[in-house]
Amino acid sequence: MNFTTDIFTQFDKKWALLTAGTKEKFNTMTISWGGLGTLWNKPVATVYVRTSRYTYNFVDENEYFTISFYPEQQKKVLGVLGSKSGRDMDKIHDSGLTAKELADSVTFEEAEVTLVCRKLFRQELDVNNIPKDIASALYEGDAPHVMFIGEVVDIIRA
Ligand SMILES: Cc1cc2nc3c(=O)[nH]c(=O)nc-3n(C[C@H](O)[C@H](O)[C@H](O)COP(=O)(O)O)c2cc1C
Repeated sequence: MNFTTDIFTQFDKKWALLTAGTKEKFNTMTISWGGLGTLWNKPVATVYVRTSRYTYNFVDENEYFTISFYPEQQKKVLGVLGSKSGRDMDKIHDSGLTAKELADSVTFEEAEVTLVCRKLFRQELDVNNIPKDIASALYEGDAPHVMFIGEVVDIIRA
């Protein structure tokens, strides 16, 4: 299992899709906040999901989630998946991406790389522990983020 990247551009500039559920019932959304590292001697990926996202319910309820990265030509599709909600429409069908069923989760055929993550930890970010300027810019009147940490159990390449 090997993945070499510039972590400061991988999420922030390239973006990713966070997907959870089963092939029959899943949802996906665009993310640009996240991290890769080590915790409890395991390779881990961390994502931050506002509780207002439809995808939040899927990540919260399932043991696995995937983080998938795409070639530049899919950026527009990621923009749409990051601005429409699966709660309101079949945005995945409209995106043109092809869902790919994995043993415990879902990704898309078009992904360059998919990190398969087994959920190890969840915790809502406590606004009281966030610097005031950030808290007022990002959390006043908006749902909190829940941090999910997953063990990276597989890395799938196209
Ligand atoms: C570039 C980009 C990055 C985003 N990153 C995050 C993120 O890290 N966490 C988050 O909760 N929402 C993030 N969003 C917002 C969700 O993708 C967006 O609200 C989406 O419509 C939620 O879809 P859903 O309701 O189907 O889950 C991002 C959106 C864009 C366009």
